[in-house]
Amino acid sequence: MVVDRSGIIGESPSLQQVFAVLAKVSPTDSTVLVTGESGTGKELLVRALHTNSKRKNKPFVPINCGAIPKDLLESELFGHEKGAFTHAIRSRTGRFEMADGGTIFLDEIGELDLTLQVKILRVLQEKEFERVGGTATTKVNVRIVAATNRDLELEVAEGRFREDLFYRLNVIPIHLPPLRERDEDILLLGRHFLHVFCQQKGRALLQLSPTTQNFLVAYPWPGNVRELENFMERISILCENDEVTPEDLPEKILKFVGHEAPVRPPRQSQGGFVWPSLGDLRNRKQGLKEFMDEIEERLLQEALEESQGVKNQAAEMLGIKRTTLIEKLKKRNASG
Ligand SMILES: Nc1ncnc2c1ncn2[C@@H]1O[C@H](COP(=O)(O)OP(=O)(O)OP(=O)(O)O)[C@@H](O)[C@H]1O
Ligand SMILES: [Mg+2]
Repeated sequence: MVVDRSGIIGESPSLQQVFAVLAKVSPTDSTVLVTGESGTGKELLVRALHTNSKRKNKPFVPINCGAIPKDLLESELFGHEKGAFTHAIRSRTGRFEMADGGTIFLDEIGELDLTLQVKILRVLQEKEFERVGGTATTKVNVRIVAATNRDLELEVAEGRFREDLFYRLNVIPIHLPPLRERDEDILLLGRHFLHVFCQQKGRALLQLSPTTQNFLVAYPWPGNVRELENFMERISILCENDEVTPEDLPEKILKFVGHEAPVRPPRQSQGGFVWPSLGDLRNRKQGLKEFMDEIEERLLQEALEESQGVKNQAAEMLGIKRTTLIEKLKKRNASG
């Protein structure tokens, strides 16, 4: 069965399995529960499910149950009648009605409180509900797809999630494994994002050095694909060469793979000026203060030499006041 992958990238065995289930389940009206850690691509998958269904030309209506305050969520989902509560000056259509004929995506369903869980259960069973403050029953034809990064079985065991709702939702479970369990996809995704961002920024495609590739695969990516995506965007802006090398990697990745933060090669600006780097501090075994003092000392010396000791001139060359220069010299004499 061929599916429109809708931009989902990956060739790992576990993702292949996901595609196989996607192909089978998309054409049906069965309820699907997508689980996986944050950033694993749950929303992308649910959109693909809709795109591959016979409802694809009907609405796809997402709602994030965790992002809407509890007392507004019911009316957001089911709509309300005029006068249902203080600010209900007119009646309003809820997301279930908007999704009629299409798919509703109940994102972060694990955040739903118990009273709303009962109401969702009823829609799942009867395909009907009442608007807040209303008495008429509304019938809808919606496919329900839900996602969560919680372990719903644990939530059930601890009494925070209704068992009957869990079974109703979990008809077709699809689990998106964390990125660290799909090594094969890390570089595939990394290169894809790098390509997208380099193109966006109008720069030549960056390559990943072999060591960089090893480090990226070794790192556990706690923020999953989202973290990798953000990281590649940053690289596409900050990397100064044609190849991404370990110097370009953030400390947390280097730390994890047990690689000392590298001494950056000097970065030359157009005038040939070399900015000092942390590597210079380390090489000199100096702290920031000592290092800055030394730089200041050199510039003061040079100015005094050039002005042959005329403090007015030296101060002017340095762009500071004469009194400031004298103060600095005093301090130095005192400490030196
Ligand atoms: N397999 C993939 N191919 C391409 N892009 C992906 C893939 N998986 C995730 N992404 C991208 O990573 C980002 C996060 O994905 P998404 O929002 O679907 O994750 P999520 O599981 O819903 O996360 P959360 O639990 O935080 O809501 C998005 O920009 C998405 O496009
Ligand atoms: Mg999401």
